[in-house]
Amino acid sequence: MKKLAFWVAGLLVLPMTAATLHAATGTIKPGAPWFDTSGRRIQAHGGGMTVWKHTYYWFGEDRSQTNDPAKRYVACYSSKDLVHWKFRGQALALADPENLGPHWVLERPKVYVNPRTHKFVMYAHLDNAHYRLARVMVAVSDHINGPYKYVKSFRPLNEESRDIGQFVDDDGAAYLIFESRPTRGFFIAKLTDDYMNVEKTAFIHAPLEGGALVHYDGLYYVVGSHMTGWRPNPDVYATAPAITGPWTEFRNIAPPEANTYNAQSTMLFAVKGSKKTAVIFMGDIWEPRTLWDSRYLWMPLEMGNGTMHLPPPQPWTINVKTGETALKQ
Ligand code: DGJ
Repeated sequence: MKKLAFWVAGLLVLPMTAATLHAATGTIKPGAPWFDTSGRRIQAHGGGMTVWKHTYYWFGEDRSQTNDPAKRYVACYSSKDLVHWKFRGQALALADPENLGPHWVLERPKVYVNPRTHKFVMYAHLDNAHYRLARVMVAVSDHINGPYKYVKSFRPLNEESRDIGQFVDDDGAAYLIFESRPTRGFFIAKLTDDYMNVEKTAFIHAPLEGGALVHYDGLYYVVGSHMTGWRPNPDVYATAPAITGPWTEFRNIAPPEANTYNAQSTMLFAVKGSKKTAVIFMGDIWEPRTLWDSRYLWMPLEMGNGTMHLPPPQPWTINVKTGETALKQ
């Protein structure tokens, strides 16, 4: 009995210790279990980043083992420094909205703030077990942390849409990136004024998923992974002076044998500080059999002169005020 009590106490204390360590160092550790401010593992896979009222909000797939297996969940976390994340609740807890059947899929949620309607609009990939539906769903809330209410699903531009990405340009224009297999490429589509639909902006002829986009130093950089399901592969990037192109050929973001350090692109996120702009590669290290245990690979990218390089993962810090990042041992 004593032994058991010791064990239980140990289990309770362990995550707190990890959270405290994290807080003490203020370091992002790519690939390591990441704990929220209450000591629980962060569940925000295939996530998106929303900036609102000087605060970062991280939304992603919540794959907690305690979830109702019939529902799909999106968790919301907030942070002032991108390191310490407070759990703000399950923003979406959705029962099968369209008779999709067992093992239906909700992946890669992204939340946009509409400055005109003041609504928070969530997009996510919605599918059946065989990934044949290829649609996006839209859910809306009056509060950033939800609850979000399911509104509809559709095929953007009437095209198949699987992995989605999120991009908000410097002028505030919001875009959805989506992969369309029959056309062998991906679309970058601007959200309509009410954010409930999209209009065509660009099509990039490259069969890639995990699409992400960033605007840095006068150039647009797009990143994507090849189609190998959950298995990692060498992510590639291209650049263009405008979203509409012309886009360069795709090149590797890291030595191809590194397989993107076992991660898959999810988001490129620019932190515009007073001294510099940091561009962060946000990727998922998937554990398809135990999705709840999937990890995050966040690293500052080396950017310049139209090149993008993902350095080997190692612990790092960021000052979101200045935009400066530093690698740690
Ligand atoms: C790779 C995708 O990028 C993931 O989001 C997920 O859809 C898996 N494929 C499913 O096989």
